Amino acid sequence: MKTYLVTGAAGFIGANFVKYMLKKYDDIAIVILDKLTYAGNLGTIKEELKDSRVEFVRGDIANAELVSNIFARREIDYVVNFAAESHVDRSITNPQLFLQTNILGTQNMLECAKKAWTTGKDDKGYPTYLPGKKFLQVSTDEVYGSLTKDFDVPQPLHIEDENVRRVVKGRTKIQTYGRTFFTGETPLDPRSPYSSSKTGADLIVRAYHETYKMPVNITRCSNNYGPYHFPEKLIPLIIKNILEGRKLPVYGKGDNVRDWLYVEDHAKAIDMVLAGGRVGEIYNIGGFNEEQNINIVKLTIDTIARLMQEEPRYRSVLKTSVENINYDLITYVSDRLGHDMRYAIDPTKIHRELGWLPETKFADGIQKTIRWYLDNRAWWETIISGEYRDYYEKMYGNR
Ligand code: NAD
Ligand code: TYD
Repeated sequence: MKTYLVTGAAGFIGANFVKYMLKKYDDIAIVILDKLTYAGNLGTIKEELKDSRVEFVRGDIANAELVSNIFARREIDYVVNFAAESHVDRSITNPQLFLQTNILGTQNMLECAKKAWTTGKDDKGYPTYLPGKKFLQVSTDEVYGSLTKDFDVPQPLHIEDENVRRVVKGRTKIQTYGRTFFTGETPLDPRSPYSSSKTGADLIVRAYHETYKMPVNITRCSNNYGPYHFPEKLIPLIIKNILEGRKLPVYGKGDNVRDWLYVEDHAKAIDMVLAGGRVGEIYNIGGFNEEQNINIVKLTIDTIARLMQEEPRYRSVLKTSVENINYDLITYVSDRLGHDMRYAIDPTKIHRELGWLPETKFADGIQKTIRWYLDNRAWWETIISGEYRDYYEKMYGNR
């Protein structure tokens, strides 16, 4: 039986990962460590907390005493470090918190894991470790900076490589807005306080691997979407605002491009990297699913409008009338400072080495996601009280 220490699992991706793992494996134990910041919600993992395989610890990943205590009490096999400050806009207003949590917190997790897992020294003086242990740092494609957008109108993606062709098998529409992609060879070039702090974390993880031979992996994923996504990020914010009949704030011209991946596909990739990833390696995870923000917003409007026609029972969730769900809701607001233009991942390596594929087509994933928000109004309504209202007012009030 393996025991996982999963940090940040009361947040979006960590919670989806825990749900995925508990469903997939019977014989695992999971310790969740989460500080429950504004982004962490026990409601998100309500069912999992009742599961005898799960222990929840509230606390900070930067707290050495607390984290060592967990390692002393439990025989942890895998650390999966999701915990982070994760929102670019918040990093622009409060960069220091991002360095504290994302860099120092990660270093503390590494240090505690190293102490707990070390068995002695080899003849060169490097620490030796208990077998089967691994520290997986959940990182982001944003550490690579911003790609150029070479085409205003997306072009069909021509794929030469047989491996990559297999990654997108069965999909009819594969498009790109540029000629280049993030690969393992792309230099680190972060531009926001958020992505810089995640890069700092990646570098300290690499330093622990090089200096102490710590068994680590780093995964760098593109933008996720799906259930339990906090409604400060683009897709859930747009869904929530449509349902409330509020304006939809689109930054700049709405022409920035992101590569969207359904969250369960990310969870699956992390499971595969834990089980089979070569120690010390970095794996890029993404879906060849590029789209401009404005098109994501329009697609979300169209999908909700259609669902309201096809399944009138959903109208009870609306705080506006069905007629108001149209493109007039779109409002262009001033751009994000230092707004990265385009992200796009080439996931060939993780496919070739571990057989991972982005299985959920965007058309299906976005439907599932929207339906989830329609079916779970209580979840997002609880979250958008208090701190969220202050945040929203500050972020969008005079924009
Ligand atoms: P999130 O903001 O939804 O959740 C973060 C969680 O971490 C919350 O539960 C929060 O309470 C917890 N947390 C914050 N600071 C903490 C601390 N000091 N100690 C303990 N817990 C703390 O984030 P998310 O979107 O689920 O992202 C999870 C990870 O995945 C992050 O490391 C992020 O950088 C990375 N990532 C996110 C995306 C994305 O699209 N959301 C894409 C690629 C990578
Ligand atoms: P976001 O979900 O914050 O993710 P990230 O910045 O990490 O990619 O934003 C996705 C894109 O949507 C990004 O280009 C910024 C844009 N955006 C808006 O246009 N309006 C919004 O209200 C938000 C939150 C984001």
